[in-house]
Amino acid sequence: MYEKYLIDMNDPKDWIRHWDEGTQVVNDFILPRGPHEKDEMSDTIYHKDATVPYHQHRKGFETFEIAAGSVECFMRGKRFIAHAGDIIHIAPWTPHGFHFLEEGTIWRELFQEIDMSGGIWEKNTVNQNFPEIKEDPEFMRIYRGDPLNLTRETPVCETVDKHEMHEVRTPDFAYTTYEGDGYKLQLKIGRWETNGVKEVWHAELEKGLVVEFAFPHCNWELYYVKEGALEVEVMGEKFVAGPNTLVHIPNFHPHTIRALEHTKLYDYGGETHLMAMLEDLESIKKYQPEKLQDEAAMTAFYHKYKCFATKMYRE
Ligand SMILES: [Fe+2]
Repeated sequence: MYEKYLIDMNDPKDWIRHWDEGTQVVNDFILPRGPHEKDEMSDTIYHKDATVPYHQHRKGFETFEIAAGSVECFMRGKRFIAHAGDIIHIAPWTPHGFHFLEEGTIWRELFQEIDMSGGIWEKNTVNQNFPEIKEDPEFMRIYRGDPLNLTRETPVCETVDKHEMHEVRTPDFAYTTYEGDGYKLQLKIGRWETNGVKEVWHAELEKGLVVEFAFPHCNWELYYVKEGALEVEVMGEKFVAGPNTLVHIPNFHPHTIRALEHTKLYDYGGETHLMAMLEDLESIKKYQPEKLQDEAAMTAFYHKYKCFATKMYRE
């Protein structure tokens, strides 16, 4: 059994695990899945002045949204302040460390190839069962023993504005924007930034927009609703996703989404090659408009990009 379709990030009943780490608490929402350990999500809620030491990873991508508060960031020799609403996307080998400036800063995490929850579980298992063993140098040599996940002193950093950091995606940032009847799509994280595994879009849906995904398909969907209300129907089950909820739909679960209000959400699953599809769709409109009337050809076109929306209309 996988996680629920609807995950209310503020409701303890929807947490898979809850850890009190002293300077922060961690609430796990989705555990990593598949060969890319995709779509792991959690909130870490920091007390004022908690820190994460300067370090880097040899693999894995970390995408952090500051859902509340503000953070002093140290990254590849630069220092900057990031604020609620900003997303920070960190690729392997990018050194990073943090200082949480406000009580209750919410660090909303989306991981790929990291298994953060597994790491915390492992650390707590050792701490609870063998509290002395960290004094043993032989144990420490083998414990989480990847020397390339280098933790070191924060270097002398140059202070810059966050807009100078390509890792920071402020709310106004988009690589590209597509607007249609009832929707606006902004590309926030490109596929070239996730080793080809996903792309992250911000979607604004007008009230009354309906999108049906009636074709049983291979994508796992993960929507993070920020504002508004989204009615979701999955396999005969119907629910409403409001702000601070996740909609997590396993593969081969046809579903329909309906914006009950003006709704803002992030597509965090990102398996559809949407950027390439939208680019090529514009080319078809310009150079082969007759193809738009050929239903079989257009279905094959959409499926090529792992796009499985079967109907889109406004009520
Ligand atoms: Fe990290």
